Amino acid sequence: MLSASQIIDKYISFFEKHGHKKIANSPLIPLNDPTTLFTSSGMQPLVPYLLGEKHPQGVRLVNAQNCFRAQDIDEIGDNRHTTFFRMLGNWSLGDYFKKEQIPWYWEFLTKVIGLPKEKLYITVFKGFESIPRDEESEKLWTEILSSEGLDPKEKIFSYGAEKNWWSRAGTPKKMPKGEPGGPDSEVFFDFGTPHDSRFGEECHPNCECGRFIEIGNSVFMEYIKTESGFEKLPNQNVDFGGGLERLLQAYENQADIFETSLLYPILKTLEKITAKNYKDHKREMRIVMDHFVAAV
Ligand code: SER
Repeated sequence: MLSASQIIDKYISFFEKHGHKKIANSPLIPLNDPTTLFTSSGMQPLVPYLLGEKHPQGVRLVNAQNCFRAQDIDEIGDNRHTTFFRMLGNWSLGDYFKKEQIPWYWEFLTKVIGLPKEKLYITVFKGFESIPRDEESEKLWTEILSSEGLDPKEKIFSYGAEKNWWSRAGTPKKMPKGEPGGPDSEVFFDFGTPHDSRFGEECHPNCECGRFIEIGNSVFMEYIKTESGFEKLPNQNVDFGGGLERLLQAYENQADIFETSLLYPILKTLEKITAKNYKDHKREMRIVMDHFVAAV
């Protein structure tokens, strides 16, 4: 069995093998960036380079970045959200694009980590206003899944800007002038837990019932918001990010992030200190654990 830190090592060395340079983990309080309080994704320290500045370490970068998402604080208590997490990230600064990123990520998940391919689901961008549907990603995924003997029609779902567009500000409409963003393609892991109809009639990868978790997001960052809409950036960039703790959840087929090998020891200690059982107090204990880890 791989530990969380062995998964990090495998990810970094896989992308180093593909010509990436490892960059340092940035502080959780961003340096020279007054726009935001905390580093909440691996791309945050890289914004100037995604906008076109030259990075001293080159055009292919990889790292594991500590992240804190204050905006997720009200989600804590479910089976998959944490405010603090580590994001595995790889970037192309105007170098490779979709036809390299998508097969590499699939190879990493299924061959390097060995996730069962039948449990993986894919989402792609279906278009929004002047920005077209991401047919190239859809085609690449269709080829990969077909070659693996999987039915792309059952595995690939398309969503609009609410789900398959990424920028620091969120959807295209929320982006301020000068902000980079783009369509994305996410991979979800299916725990096969029963669907909860409170979240809708039919279950699907972006359903909130807890059956599926998103384990990685390839953002094809090639747009910049302007006064009048969107323009293309000087470069076509890849901004990939995947939560280490979520990947571990998938690897261990553990539908509860707090019961993975990484967080379970904290849970046991909390049970001991409080003399309470986790199964009777899941929501409260998840919140205490999450906030404790984030504070540390
Ligand atoms: N920036 C994207 C995210 O945070 C991918 O790295 O999901």
